Amino acid sequence: MKLLPAGRVVVIGSVNTDRILRCPVLPAPGETVLATDATRGFGGKGANQAVTAARMGAATHLVAKVGRDAEGEAALADLRGANVETGAVHTHPDAPTGQAIVLVDPAGENSIVVVPGANAHLTADEVGTALARLHLLPVDVVLTSNEVPAACVRAVAAALPAAGPRGGTRWLHDTAPAGALPDPGPTGRRPLVVANAVEARQLTGAADAEAAARALARQGEGAVVTLGGAGALVAVGGALTRLPAPTVRVVDTTGAGDVFCGALAAGLARLADLPAAAATAVAAGAFAVTAPGARGALPRPADL
Ligand code: RIB
Repeated sequence: MKLLPAGRVVVIGSVNTDRILRCPVLPAPGETVLATDATRGFGGKGANQAVTAARMGAATHLVAKVGRDAEGEAALADLRGANVETGAVHTHPDAPTGQAIVLVDPAGENSIVVVPGANAHLTADEVGTALARLHLLPVDVVLTSNEVPAACVRAVAAALPAAGPRGGTRWLHDTAPAGALPDPGPTGRRPLVVANAVEARQLTGAADAEAAARALARQGEGAVVTLGGAGALVAVGGALTRLPAPTVRVVDTTGAGDVFCGALAAGLARLADLPAAAATAVAAGAFAVTAPGARGALPRPADL
């Protein structure tokens, strides 16, 4: 029997420095609250996804842009230390590295404001060039999200060959921060859509999570809808699978969706089928909420 090698995970996404403020309550519009604690951490949805995929054992590349500043240098060093290949992480001469203000309440819920900085300057050309240099194989997985310009996501649709009867390079698109789904490129490629329940509702207008998952699946190559402590739904070709989550003590939900996407991409790159890869991703997301910060608890396979 000929064994297929595992694929690579290629993340096209953001790199941020997170300023994490623990608050007694998340402020309502017009309200001021006093934080009880302030810390810094590495973040950015793309970087969080890439570090997770690498920890889950995938050979991982990040296509991104940071500023020419101390934050960008520190983020790059951290990514390399996490075994993420950073040859396609560009440096912008003027724009600062992206920043996020993350407010977390005692129940672990968060509100996040991102200042995109250099992330907003990643270009479609840079994405297309990086993908061409990687000579993508059918076993590889490309992961995008909405924290980089929409043109960068469209560049993936244009770069990926049409999937043949035996599949092709898989493309996952995380709809966070909430935004429209990418148009199919010239080859008609659509991604496997990963959305949380709120995003799924916004994108489909369906109030019920199962109906939203089915509707999203029809707009892509399938859909995975994350439900927080209730697990996730996987919808492909008319079939719907509900995956329960383990019960854990929630400290901070920041970055749990990124960990879910990174683990899902790593599982698919190992050629796991979608429900199996999604079940591992649910466990990875549950692990991630047990410590503070977006990178406080990133799982390795043995942890799950
Ligand atoms: O999903 C969590 C991430 O969102 C944070 O790390 C922050 O940087 C924002 O990108």
